[in-house]
Amino acid sequence: MEAGMSMSERSDGRESVAAEVISLEKDATETAGSKTADPGPGGVSRSAGLEKPDSVDLGESPGPSPGLLRSEAVDLFRRRDLTPLAAEARRIATREFGDDVYLRGLIEYTNFCAVDCLYCGIRRSNSHPRRYRLSSEEILAAVKEGYGRGLRTFVLQGGEDRWFTTDRLARICEDIKEVTGGEAALTLSCGIRPAADYRLLKAAGADRYLMRFETSDPDLHRHLRGGVELKHRLDALENLLSAGFQVGSGFMVGLPGENDDTVIRNVELCAEMGVDMAGVGPFIPHHQTPLADSLQQPLELALYATALVRIFCPETHIPATTAAGSLEKDGRERMIACGANVLMPNLTPVTYKKDYLLYPGKICLDESGLQCVGCLSMRVLTVDRQISFDRADGRVGGPAA
Ligand code: 5AD
Ligand code: FES
Repeated sequence: MEAGMSMSERSDGRESVAAEVISLEKDATETAGSKTADPGPGGVSRSAGLEKPDSVDLGESPGPSPGLLRSEAVDLFRRRDLTPLAAEARRIATREFGDDVYLRGLIEYTNFCAVDCLYCGIRRSNSHPRRYRLSSEEILAAVKEGYGRGLRTFVLQGGEDRWFTTDRLARICEDIKEVTGGEAALTLSCGIRPAADYRLLKAAGADRYLMRFETSDPDLHRHLRGGVELKHRLDALENLLSAGFQVGSGFMVGLPGENDDTVIRNVELCAEMGVDMAGVGPFIPHHQTPLADSLQQPLELALYATALVRIFCPETHIPATTAAGSLEKDGRERMIACGANVLMPNLTPVTYKKDYLLYPGKICLDESGLQCVGCLSMRVLTVDRQISFDRADGRVGGPAA
């Protein structure tokens, strides 16, 4: 476990960190990033407009829906009024998933990448990381270890690495299905490929595919992602849906050039696509990238976005992201308090973890996957949740009718 958790006694006698740790408004000194943005128009102030109690009421029962209109939720975001937004998001998450937080084991199988995204620490032009590819044996060993610990969902994530041809990946999918007796759900996250290749991967046993659109602003997307058009990304997501995948997407929050409208549009896009999973991560400037001097926006901006996604996409799985936990020590717990319902223990072999630094300050580098599972089991208790090993299959094929 990489962070200390302080306990306080609740009135019902149960121990909870809610009051002390799961505070929606945090002291500026806890932010891990290099520079914190000044509050300003369209930006996020650490305290502006947040005259709210320090804690989310984590003990609330789902109850009948007081219901917030989407427009009201957007207003709360624009006014920086997190507490009612978080309460509504949490109420919906509890209604949909009870107290369960689903675990999905992450294996970062290659840090080679053909793309040159301005924000990413493993971008092609960064000569600093030691490049690696896990062998099939290493991938299967990580899966087996996680399976033995009870995990039933595995996510293979990597850079856009053409060495892993679709055939190679398909063999790995088949092997993973075999060693898990067909029981585990398999998610791929390996970027844009031709539609036919997606169909091959699906036929080889992959169930889900993750690919964030990163930002819904077409100009910004082109600028940040080495000339790749947003439309190209969205077309690929459509192809994944057509191939029958449960599709995850999502975006970063706080990229330079974004404003409130971008965040709202990002959330709307997740709702329009009907994604099964939507990942929201705070952008953390990486010193070895062209965005090294960007301002670090506070975690709160990602918390607002998480709550909005939950309100706009009630049934969608939302991970409490590692980037949030890297920016602030209780960032993932605070995301859960804003409606997230998935955690991703990192099963990558420890020898490689430090070479998969998409952003600096990444947590869990020295811990094994099993230690991460143990750590997360403890952490969710602090927000009155429990981990679940359920596959938690989602909707296939786009927006609900
Ligand atoms: N800060 C935060 N998240 C990042 N990602 C890439 N670079 C960064 C960064 N500097 C995210 C992207 C990508 C996911 C795997 O990691 O959203 O889709
Ligand atoms: Fe806490 Fe990995 S060590 S989740």
